[in-house]
Amino acid sequence: MIERTKYEKLFSTPFFRFQVQDHESLNAALLKECARLRGESDGVLKSNRGGWHSEGNLFDSDVPCISQLREYAEGATFEATQTVSSKLDVATLKLKLFAWMNANPPGGFNAPHTHPGAHWSGVYYVSQPTVETGTSGMIEFLDPRTDLPNWRILKSPAFRAKKKIRPAAGEIVIFPSYLMHWVYPNETDEERVSIAFNATFRKQHSNTDG
Ligand SMILES: [Fe+2]
Repeated sequence: MIERTKYEKLFSTPFFRFQVQDHESLNAALLKECARLRGESDGVLKSNRGGWHSEGNLFDSDVPCISQLREYAEGATFEATQTVSSKLDVATLKLKLFAWMNANPPGGFNAPHTHPGAHWSGVYYVSQPTVETGTSGMIEFLDPRTDLPNWRILKSPAFRAKKKIRPAAGEIVIFPSYLMHWVYPNETDEERVSIAFNATFRKQHSNTDG
């Protein structure tokens, strides 16, 4: 006779989705700002294959729509942090956010990558072309555990190797920066625009520390 004394999930990857209420006017302003920034800079090449990736920290901008999104990103980051670390006093930490804009044209995608050095990464969806079926514009997260294909035979969600979702415009997704992810090719004839950010915490030093 045996009796089970414990069932525990040892490790897990937290994942959050937030919805910005009344996002239509915010997104219209962000698209306008996106067009203006693109006129000023050719952008940089990161994980994007095709398309445009803004240069520098977008959240340094004081354009109202960007400041508004920065506030939402900060709020979502604090909520995610407080959810996984209920005993943490967030006032003891200083949060640095670094953001950039991605425009993903028809056929464009983002190759698998992580965001090393940050704690949380997030994406806000400014425009997401409508599709009825398929994977166009989906973001997929890959489980960092190795050897998972061997567990497929058990059909258990506990050993699922990947998870893909298709966030709508107005959504913010937040995940730990170590989590590998990539974006499926845009199969529509419209652009997909998103703003990604990295959130990094540092210990807050009081002024007397210099
Ligand atoms: Fe990313």
